[in-house]
Amino acid sequence: MSDVVHYERVDRVAVVTIDNPPVNALSPDVWNALDEAVRRAAHDPAVDAVVVVGAGTTFIAGADIKVFATLKTREQSLERSGGTHALLMRIEDCPKPVVAAIHGVALGGGNEVAMSCHYRIADRKASIGQPEVLLGIIPGAGGTQRLPRLSGADLALTMSTDGKPISADRAAAAGIVDRVVDGGLREAAIAFAREKAAGGGPRKTRELRDKIQDVAAAVAACEKMRASLAKTSKDVPAPAAAVDAIEAGIREGFAAGSLRERERFADCVVSTASKAMRHIFFAERDAAKIPDAPAGVQARTIARAAVVGAGTMGGGIAMSYANAGIPVLLKEVDQASLDRGLATIRKNYESSVAKGKMTPDALLKTMSLITPTTSYDAFDGVDIVVEAVFENMDLKKTTFAELGKVTRPDCILASNSSTLDISEFARASGRPASVLGHHFFSPANIMKLLEIVRAPETSHETLATSLKLAKRLAKVGVVVGNCFGFVANRMLAYYMREAYLLLEEGASVAEIDQALTDFGMPVGPYGMQDIAGIDVGARIRQYLTSIGKTRAEGPQSEIPDRLFEMGRYGQKTGAGWYRYEAGSRNRIPDPLIENLAGEAAAKRGITRAKISSDEIIARIMTALANEGAKVLQEGYASRAGDIDVIYCYGFGFPRHRGGPMFYADTVGLATVLARVSEYRARFGDYWQPAPLLERLVAEGRGFYDAEPQAAAR
Ligand code: CAA
Repeated sequence: MSDVVHYERVDRVAVVTIDNPPVNALSPDVWNALDEAVRRAAHDPAVDAVVVVGAGTTFIAGADIKVFATLKTREQSLERSGGTHALLMRIEDCPKPVVAAIHGVALGGGNEVAMSCHYRIADRKASIGQPEVLLGIIPGAGGTQRLPRLSGADLALTMSTDGKPISADRAAAAGIVDRVVDGGLREAAIAFAREKAAGGGPRKTRELRDKIQDVAAAVAACEKMRASLAKTSKDVPAPAAAVDAIEAGIREGFAAGSLRERERFADCVVSTASKAMRHIFFAERDAAKIPDAPAGVQARTIARAAVVGAGTMGGGIAMSYANAGIPVLLKEVDQASLDRGLATIRKNYESSVAKGKMTPDALLKTMSLITPTTSYDAFDGVDIVVEAVFENMDLKKTTFAELGKVTRPDCILASNSSTLDISEFARASGRPASVLGHHFFSPANIMKLLEIVRAPETSHETLATSLKLAKRLAKVGVVVGNCFGFVANRMLAYYMREAYLLLEEGASVAEIDQALTDFGMPVGPYGMQDIAGIDVGARIRQYLTSIGKTRAEGPQSEIPDRLFEMGRYGQKTGAGWYRYEAGSRNRIPDPLIENLAGEAAAKRGITRAKISSDEIIARIMTALANEGAKVLQEGYASRAGDIDVIYCYGFGFPRHRGGPMFYADTVGLATVLARVSEYRARFGDYWQPAPLLERLVAEGRGFYDAEPQAAAR
């Protein structure tokens, strides 16, 4: 009957199969065909009950997210959601029992379809969720109404505001799912449907009231959630909007609640925040595609790994492998360093156990995957080695030369360097096609970004294998080119340059940090440096000075180096840009910084003056966008979206702003360019507009209208 929904009869049960690869997203075709199939089953005299099931690896991953971009106005959204709500009511009104058979995921609209069916049976490995808030919207197909009626207000509020899926077992315990099976889902669903046809019949979720009988308690739960969201999600309206819709349904009934849901959904779907979050969703997936990869490039599977260097980064990288279930050798030069590294790893896992995030059994199992060693024995059995030795060119080159000899010819050799030229390691190894950078972010076991640094010699197979591996390590891999600082840190140098200059011009460290956290960053530039260590940046500057380079064009502030000389490395030494009392991470502003800023300003002939938070944001974001444009134009990032993904996952750039490039588009590139020109006039020629920025403004286009570059170099 349709390409995307199939209809067949098995033992007087209509089996309606959604078949819209890869994830059975609910495109308009699927909605229509599903509607028609259930209607047909209702009228089919040879059918007593209906099963709705997904083809392939999953039930339904939700509405087709691409379709939201076609909703330009609130009214369009209201009209569309009116149709969807009516369609789901028709399924619910089917006179024959309708059973949803869930495997893989039932997310968003997928769960809303399932809840409009009369019963739900799930494979034990399935998960169920309402992740819409992660896209800046709320459940828009009755989820805010039917979920509380199945699970009660508390769980519905949690699922609709944190967006995290729950397991089939948890869903069954909560009443969202009626039965859980271990395999044989389709047959079990058919049997279940026949059972319900014989007795029980249809059960409409919208008519259930047991779980929300106590209206006062449910409303109190809504108020409590709203108060908590006011602290945690003040920048994004969707979670609170979901609460509004849930509360309206509980207080005023299903019809009024549904209308509120449609209205709040419409508010959200046309918002810039939602556009930004949807953009990041697709940008993250696009980042996994290499624009110039020839057809047929195969990604290999990594079965065993090794990490050289058990310091902070090496230890965190080894944990990432072990967490993914990949056995990993961890090598150090001597037993004492190895013991120190392992003790840190164990301490990290023990802290997870103490917080209830890991079981003691899982700790033992995960630790057993890490094999400490002080030799290269067994390196001929691994598929990848990640080098994480001290950031020193000669040391790293020697390590790569050794690795080239002790590993198999097809073994990937990755460097975790954050600054050095990957091509040098490629040459030192003797087999450059297998060499690239795997730039993890600290703490490597937690931060999700992996910059996959491509040297000119790196093969497509090595890149494809790295992207596949990144996903397995629960990281977001982005291929970048081999320039100084790659993409993340190259651009960060401009972010920091402006932060330093703003300080010299009169803004305080606390004001600059506050402006950035108000913008949505998890921490401001100075707080971030105090966490990362002021010594780290200082050493990089020393190295650059030794080779006659600087990190960013323009005046170099002397203040960070003065702090380094004073031994003020940040939190770890109790003082950096702020002061810290023993055992506390509370940032206490320190008058010493103001004095240093005053001295630096005097040397540069600047009169310090108050700077507004708008100016702080404009300066810093303009610097990022302009440098991002240069990175793009030079081909060190393939797409503007890659840069945005890097900033969201590497530095916690607020997703609701979409990343520095998307944000620049929302500001308007003409405004961004005008600011660059203004700053050039005010501060000097080190402000140079990126030619790509000028071209896009001349053409009236944004970064997102620019063609993807051939490839990151
Ligand atoms: N709409 C459109 N495309 C989708 C999609 C969706 N809901 N979900 C996944 N896709 C696409 C991805 O973009 C990707 O496409 P490409 O291969 O072209 O890049 C492809 O499906 C595979 O996706 P992943 O790479 O993410 O595959 P995975 O196996 O790692 O993860 C998943 C699968 C868990 C379903 C994940 O894709 C996911 O979380 N999807 C989004 C789920 C979601 O947010 N659903 C709610 C939608 S909003 C809604 O439903 C509103 C409503 O109330 C009606």
